[in-house]
Amino acid sequence: MIFSDSFNSSFLITVSAVQNSNKDGVIITSALPYANGEIHLGHISSTYLPADIFRRFLKLNAVQVYHLCASDDFGTPVLIETEKKKMKPELYVKYWHDKDLEDFNSVGIVFDSFSQTSSDTNRGFVQYVFNVLKKRELVYEKEVVQYYCEKDSKFLPDRYVVGKCPYCNAMDQYSDLCEKCGRIPEKILDPKCAICGISPIKKNSNHYFFKLSNFEDILEKWLKENELLQQDVKKYVLNWIVEGLQDWDITRDISWGVPIPISSNEKKDKVFYGWFDNHLCYISSFIELLGDTNRAREKWNNSKIYHFIGKDIVYHHYLFLPAIRIGINKEYKLPDFIPTRGHLMLQNNKISKSRNWYIGLREFVDLFQPDYLRFYIASICSYSQDDINFDWNDFEKKINNELIANIGNFINRTLTFIKKYFGNIIPNPKEYDNTDRNSLEEIERIGNIVGGSILSNEIDRALKNILYFSSTFNQYFQKKEPWKNPEESGSALFISINAVRSISILLEPFIPFSVEKVWKQLGLEGNIHDQNWKTIGTISLSPGHKLGDIEPIFKKVDTDKIKEQVSKLNIR
Ligand code: 2FM
Ligand code: ZN
Repeated sequence: MIFSDSFNSSFLITVSAVQNSNKDGVIITSALPYANGEIHLGHISSTYLPADIFRRFLKLNAVQVYHLCASDDFGTPVLIETEKKKMKPELYVKYWHDKDLEDFNSVGIVFDSFSQTSSDTNRGFVQYVFNVLKKRELVYEKEVVQYYCEKDSKFLPDRYVVGKCPYCNAMDQYSDLCEKCGRIPEKILDPKCAICGISPIKKNSNHYFFKLSNFEDILEKWLKENELLQQDVKKYVLNWIVEGLQDWDITRDISWGVPIPISSNEKKDKVFYGWFDNHLCYISSFIELLGDTNRAREKWNNSKIYHFIGKDIVYHHYLFLPAIRIGINKEYKLPDFIPTRGHLMLQNNKISKSRNWYIGLREFVDLFQPDYLRFYIASICSYSQDDINFDWNDFEKKINNELIANIGNFINRTLTFIKKYFGNIIPNPKEYDNTDRNSLEEIERIGNIVGGSILSNEIDRALKNILYFSSTFNQYFQKKEPWKNPEESGSALFISINAVRSISILLEPFIPFSVEKVWKQLGLEGNIHDQNWKTIGTISLSPGHKLGDIEPIFKKVDTDKIKEQVSKLNIR
């Protein structure tokens, strides 16, 4: 059954609870994109679109919500690129920060703050956190053996070394993350310098370590007690704890990063590890936004905290991040939810920038409306660890047959009929029959059904429910046959046009650009983005209301454009 009021049991909030809880705000964060390249469809589907849909839904429910993000400026993934381009890191990351934000905005992804991990506020906050951890003896110094490339005369942390993953044997994996099995290798096998490819030598260096191993019990308890975290993710994270957690080396022998707040010559060429500073930017960007640390702390602690992520960074968000927050005495509360999704495949192959097998956001919106991307991705975006697949044939079908032939058709035929037979004025309803009454009931129920799915993070299901609602109304229209006797069709048109209004609010989180146009065509004042979700279930458009100018909202997807796009997808 598509229509269902039931909620995913892991989400214990109901729509009415959300509507009544708007004094406690919600803080949503989206994983910070590395400032080293363009945003592509894979980023959008795993993290940013689900987060944006959720933000828009909460806004429509008058919940105070902040969506925070920032460019991830430090770390070897960025530094390696600046070296290749021979650019100053500051300029390089600023370029990508601005470009990525522009790209996000072009598809309607809205942030309340899009900061940088290299901001002064983040640098200060990271140093503050380190000092608290040091005072609480949760960090210690240790001499470690590091890879060093004699040809490039430098230490080779993290991505500067590639090799074989000791857990799953995948080749060509980074020494700080195996993209195949998602784990962080303790010791990469057959190491090579990522710059020149030679085998590195080993050299000693003094580093700081965070005592992650101290937190095994407390993390286990937190994970087990938190009903709201995804069960399947929790299961494998708990297994990692059983295998034992290693302390984390939180410093690196490079110059680009947050400086270690200890005055010593020896620390000159050392900075914090990118994964020590980046997640702290979730908090520091909020402090920066509010401009007052105490107010930010209080608000953070009184809000529901959601960290939206892709499955490749589970380790960092389910273990490292909570341990650090516990380590600073929970001065800032731990996440309530960590919505975690699988990867997007492209035509059944893994997205890879190096093999040129990806679609950049910019090139997509140059060819198709941003709402087509949002609609299609939302329709396939299951709330699970399973990978999902972007397929051009499926894209064409979903846009032409579902968005246009179902939703677009219902909206357009209702508006056009009123224009043609009633001079663009909503007619008076006559006496209702059973079919009319059933349709009115559908309008009354739909907001809670779709809202329930969005709250439980099942945006694909939410969209299915909207499509079902729209097709029910297409059938209603068909059954009523208003064209046979327009003068007697007042009830059908009156109910249908109110359903169009409901659909436009239901779709605001999914296709915000298109519903802005529908709102205008309905002749409604105000901004659709500021409407109230509760009014979806009401009959708000009255007889006598004048509609606006009408034209079709959507244009069929052109097969030639798809062919053009597909032809670019050549694996080099
Ligand atoms: O994996 C990545 O793309 C990282 N830049 C994500 C960082 S999220 C963090 F800040 F917690
Ligand atoms: Zn080298």
